[in-house]
Amino acid sequence: MVEFFDNAYRDGGTPTWDVGRPQGALVRLATSGLIVGTVLDAGCGTGENALYLAAQGHPALGVDFAAAAIERAAAKAADRGLPVEFLVADALDLAVLGRTFDTVLDVGLFHTFMDAERPRYAASLGAALRPGGRAFLLCWSDRNPFGRGPRRVSPQEIRTTFRDGWRVEAVDPEWLDTRLPDGRIHAWLARIARVETGT
Ligand SMILES: C[S@@+](CC[C@H](N)C(=O)[O-])C[C@H]1O[C@@H](n2cnc3c(N)ncnc32)[C@H](O)[C@@H]1O
Repeated sequence: MVEFFDNAYRDGGTPTWDVGRPQGALVRLATSGLIVGTVLDAGCGTGENALYLAAQGHPALGVDFAAAAIERAAAKAADRGLPVEFLVADALDLAVLGRTFDTVLDVGLFHTFMDAERPRYAASLGAALRPGGRAFLLCWSDRNPFGRGPRRVSPQEIRTTFRDGWRVEAVDPEWLDTRLPDGRIHAWLARIARVETGT
């Protein structure tokens, strides 16, 4: 998978998900005040979402396993004079960061995982999020027609993945902006709190 994604970004490639601006759903979320404190953007791609949150004043780290994406994200941060950190890292092993964040953002990452990877991803997110912190997942929805794009995710699959040690507060219909001919596609926006020890 890493080769697939890295190649998508190499040689000036612009994948269909790389829209060159923050996702509208993220802007709506940030405007609502739900994004707080330090932010980790898991699977950040070329960084537009992390860069947007940094411009709003959030200390932000973006990680992606595609080195080509991280190079482009870091170049954008330098061009824009924004103090965002970008690192090559595996979102399935975020414990190696040795840090926790108030908020974790996932735009288009969860739906790339196979079933067997989902529990590992939940554990990895748990290692990177402070107790009581929230993860926001924006993923490809099962309301889209079958047969194109990545895996179609149902709200129940999100609830099942984040069953233990988490509280799924909401799974709301939203949109993912893309470069596909249809423009935006149906998404789910999940709001998931890491349960505090003893609650
Ligand atoms: C659909 S793209 C979304 C990128 C970005 N969030 C955006 O909105 O433009 C999914 C991203 O997740 C990254 N990715 C997939 N699996 C990963 C993993 N295990 N660790 C880190 N990044 C991963 C890919 O390289 C790709 O950049």
